[in-house]
Amino acid sequence: MQNFVFHNPTEIVFGKGTIAGLASRVPQDVPILLVYGRGSIQSNGVYDQVRRALGKRARVDFGGIEPNPRYETAMRAVERVREHKIGFLLSVGGGSVLDACKFIAAAARFEGQDPWDILSRHAPVHAALPIGAVLTLPATGSESNGNAVISRDSTQEKLAFSSRAVYPVFSILDPETTFSLPPKQVRNGIVDAMVHVFEQYATYPAAAPLHDRLAEGILTTLVEVGPKTLAAPQDYDARAAFMWCATLALNGLVGCGVPNDWATHEIGHDLTALYGIDHAESLAVVLPGVWKLCADQKRDKLAQYAERVFGASGVEGAIEATEQFFLSLGMPVRLADHGIDAQEAAAKITERFRARRARLGEHRRIDADAVGEILRMRA
Ligand code: NZQ
Ligand code: ZN
Repeated sequence: MQNFVFHNPTEIVFGKGTIAGLASRVPQDVPILLVYGRGSIQSNGVYDQVRRALGKRARVDFGGIEPNPRYETAMRAVERVREHKIGFLLSVGGGSVLDACKFIAAAARFEGQDPWDILSRHAPVHAALPIGAVLTLPATGSESNGNAVISRDSTQEKLAFSSRAVYPVFSILDPETTFSLPPKQVRNGIVDAMVHVFEQYATYPAAAPLHDRLAEGILTTLVEVGPKTLAAPQDYDARAAFMWCATLALNGLVGCGVPNDWATHEIGHDLTALYGIDHAESLAVVLPGVWKLCADQKRDKLAQYAERVFGASGVEGAIEATEQFFLSLGMPVRLADHGIDAQEAAAKITERFRARRARLGEHRRIDADAVGEILRMRA
C-alpha cells in the first residue's frame, strides 16, 4: 500500500424523510441559489419538500441544468450568483446538477481571467462558495467527492476538474427521492458505480487486502441488489443499498493508497462529447476493451475479481461475466448498439488524445494509438 491522505469533509445524511434536515444545515444569513435540472424535482415532489425545509430563507431558483452539464449554462448561473450576492449553493438533483454547482461555486470565486481554464488548463481552485446537496440519483459519487465534469458546446469537449474546495458541506440521500427514476437511469447508475470501483481496483496487486475486500464488497452488493432495484423500484431496502454503494464507490475510500486506472472514464468522456451517449453507456462500451488490451498487466486482479464476485476464472471470465451482467441490466456493450461507427470514433478520439499528449492507465502506457485500438475492438 502506498502512503495516502484520506480526507472526506462531506457530512452524509442518509435515509427516509431526511430532506427536513436542510432546515438546520443551510445557513440563514446569506441568499441561497437553489440549482436543479429540467423538471424531475417538480414532478416527484422533492422541490416542495426542499422549499418547506428552507422556510423563509432568501432564495433564488436556477433550473435547467442539462444532463452532462454545460459550461454555457453554468456561467449564466455565475451571473446570477453575482447579481444576488449568493452565499450558498444548494444542488437538488443528480450528478449533473451537483457537478454544475461545483463549477459555479469555483467560477464565482475564481481569480484568473477565464474560468474555462479550471477545466482546460487545470488552473488551481483555491476557493469556492459552499455547496449542499440533495441527491436524487445514485451513480456518480459526486455527493461525496471533489470532482466535477463539465461539457462545452462550442468545442464539443467534456472535461473534469477536482478540488478540495468543492466537496459538498453536506449531502442528503433519501432513497425515496429516487423512486421516480426511469429504469434507464437506474441501470446507468449501477454501471457507473461498478466502473468507479473497477477504475480503482482492476489494476495490479498492491498489498492492500482491505481495499480489495471493500471494492469486492461494493461490486458483490451491486450484483445482488442491482437487478432487484431495477425490477422493484419502490423496494426501499434494495434502493437504499444501491444508493450507499454508489456513494462509497467514489468517495475516495476504495482508491486511496492503491494504483488507479481511469482510462475507461477518460475515453468515455470523449464518446459522450462527440456522440451524446450517456456517461454510463460510454463506460460499458469501453471497459471490456481496456481490460482486453491491458490483460497482461491486469491479469492478477481481474482473475481475483472474476473468482470472488462471479465464481468465474481468469481475464476472459472477468470480461465475459461483466458484459453478461451489463447486458442483463439492459446496458449495451458495443459501439454499434449506439449506431456509432467504430473506425470513425477511433480516428476522431485518437486525434484528440494525440493533441493532449495523453497517456492513460495505471502504468501510463495507453497512448493515443492504443485508445484507437480499444475503440476498434468495441465495434
Ligand atoms: O434534469 P432532471 O430533471 O434533473 O432529470 C434528470 C436527468 O434527466 C433525471 N433525474 C435525476 N433524478 C431523478 C431524475 N428523474 C426522475 N427522478 C429522479 N429522482 O435523470 C437524468 C440524468 O441525470 P444526471 O444528473 O445527468 O445523471 P447522473 O447522476 O448519472 O450524472 C451524470 C453526470 O455526472 C458526471 C457524468 O460525466 C455526467 O456528466 N460524473 C461525475 C462524477 C463526479 N462528479 O465524481 C463522476 C462520474 O464518473 C461522472 O463522470
Ligand atoms: Zn463515472
